[in-house]
Amino acid sequence: MAEVALTGVGKVYPDGTRAVTDLNLTIADGEFLVLVGPSGCGKTTALRMVAGLEEISEGRVTIGDRVVNRVPSRDRDIAMVFQSYALYPHLSVRDNIGFGLSLRKMPKAEIRERVERAAGILGLVEHLDRKPRNLSGGQRQRVAMARAIVREPQAFLMDEPLSNLDAKLRVQTRAEIARIQRDLGVTTIYVTHDQTEAMTLGDRVAVMKKGELQQVAPPQELYDRPANLFVAGFIGSPAMNLVQGTLTGDAANPRLEVGGQTLTLPPEVLADRPDLAGYLGRDLVVGVRPEDMEDAGLADAPAGAGQSDPGPGRTLTSTVELVEAMGSDVLVHFAIEAAQVVTEDTRELARDAGTDVREAQRTDLIGRFSPRTRVKVGDPVTISVDTGRLHFFDIDTGASVWGTGAAPSGKDEA
Ligand SMILES: Nc1ncnc2c1ncn2[C@@H]1O[C@H](COP(=O)(O)OP(=O)(O)O)[C@@H](O)[C@H]1O
Ligand SMILES: [Mg+2]
Repeated sequence: MAEVALTGVGKVYPDGTRAVTDLNLTIADGEFLVLVGPSGCGKTTALRMVAGLEEISEGRVTIGDRVVNRVPSRDRDIAMVFQSYALYPHLSVRDNIGFGLSLRKMPKAEIRERVERAAGILGLVEHLDRKPRNLSGGQRQRVAMARAIVREPQAFLMDEPLSNLDAKLRVQTRAEIARIQRDLGVTTIYVTHDQTEAMTLGDRVAVMKKGELQQVAPPQELYDRPANLFVAGFIGSPAMNLVQGTLTGDAANPRLEVGGQTLTLPPEVLADRPDLAGYLGRDLVVGVRPEDMEDAGLADAPAGAGQSDPGPGRTLTSTVELVEAMGSDVLVHFAIEAAQVVTEDTRELARDAGTDVREAQRTDLIGRFSPRTRVKVGDPVTISVDTGRLHFFDIDTGASVWGTGAAPSGKDEA
């Protein structure tokens, strides 16, 4: 096991495509780091540079205390698991798992022992003498994992290993990967475009956009303190609602004007974010997580502090446009007359979601309401907003507004 470090790593492909820019990332010994971002943001390229499958154009990669830029892949002591787990169809599961060890001329008895240990960890013992064609997709993926584990490498590198599995199997296998990684304690870099996978697996999650690292932090910190609009919109499902607003009032009584409606902010909001005072009287981007909104008609609406009337300045009013009952909660869609946030980040988020953003004076929002809500499509609705939990971003740079000392972990390494 070893620390893996990328320092100023960049990649320009021979055709001139720049895939990765100045990537700085240290994965601690035994850590599970997830690299996440939209398709095409450079995740695979970054991983392949660590693996030695792609030449490093700029910077330095170290595994343990060794700079590996010029070390061939086979000598880097890493094991990779890919999306397509290419097993040898004519070999048994046992021989597939042990294949790499046989190549290395390891004694047969040791191969046998290691293969059986890995098969035990992955629940493959009774399948060892089968051929891959007689296995399910999930079992084949476990064979690919076992093939990586038997090598007892310094690091695991995984590139979307679950994306060929159906949804249910993906969740099961995800839990299994987490357990195995924890048991073995092997330094792991795991690439995915799926933010749920990233959040559930990573000790820390590194978010990339267009070849550049946006933020690296433990999952909850990424969720609670996104460094910018892109991370805010990418992490979380349904995504954080983003609208344009104006900060008014004064430091003692800050207010937020959104779409002709007024929200009062608790003074702590400014105390927690010293830089926000500089935005008084100015436009900014306001972010609201769906779970920070509730049907104000319900007694336990968050901003209502136990009363059915949350009080002035803690609600928005609108009309219900769509209701999606999820069982444990209800997603309620409504719109307010506030300008759409159109920036490079929101365009990139929309592109990733397969939609697009247009300049408009109307923004769709989604609230995650309690299943006790009775709202129906077409109903007028009062939405209580937990105004202490709003997020604020600079409209030009997209950076989160915090303040000295309160900055979330950003591009530089913890
Ligand atoms: N061999 C290559 N030659 C030129 N461009 C490439 C090559 N491989 C990937 N790219 C480009 O590099 C960028 C990053 O790709 P990739 O690392 O595969 O992203 P991701 O894994 O995040 O989807 C994309 O723009 C992609 O088209
Ligand atoms: Mg990829």
